Amino acid sequence: MSGIAVAQDSDATPGSDTTPVLAPTPECGDTEDFEVTQAQTAGPFFTPDSPERTSLLEDGMPGAELLLTGYVYAPNCEPIPGALIDFWQCDDAGVYDNVGYTLRGHQFSADDGRYELTTIVPGLYPGRTRHIHVNVQAPNGPILTSQLYFPDEPANAADGIFDERLIMDVSEDDDRQIGFFTFVVEGNS
Ligand SMILES: [Fe+2]
Repeated sequence: MSGIAVAQDSDATPGSDTTPVLAPTPECGDTEDFEVTQAQTAGPFFTPDSPERTSLLEDGMPGAELLLTGYVYAPNCEPIPGALIDFWQCDDAGVYDNVGYTLRGHQFSADDGRYELTTIVPGLYPGRTRHIHVNVQAPNGPILTSQLYFPDEPANAADGIFDERLIMDVSEDDDRQIGFFTFVVEGNS
């Protein structure tokens, strides 16, 4: 686990000109495997069959732009290509689209395990801190359901579901935030 944290921290220097494309590849320690990403409840707002897309932005959509990126890895430190990653979140006002697919979409990790999602920073709704829902599944592997959180979010402390292990590394770009998080999921072996 420490290997992931180190890799993420090294890419999170605010104001650096490091682009997310150049984010370092996490490395395992000599003896320890990656810890599988903590699972969390899906909550009541998951909708199956989301569209395949890497951007959830739509014309006129309110909210601060967020680029969420990182890798999908197996516990043995191997990247997982072709992993299904399904994101869903509320809008800037804290409202989910439970009729259509606004701010819902899935994609598949690249050959090096990388994923990249363009979206907005989700709003707040009563009882929860700021979060993004996700399902991650290696090809033929089990589904990991979890949520991602923002650092320095005041509402984190009062949220009973919040887990600090699921905080993204977030840095500011010129006109958007960049979140970095590496998922570790069981493969099909
Ligand atoms: Fe939620």
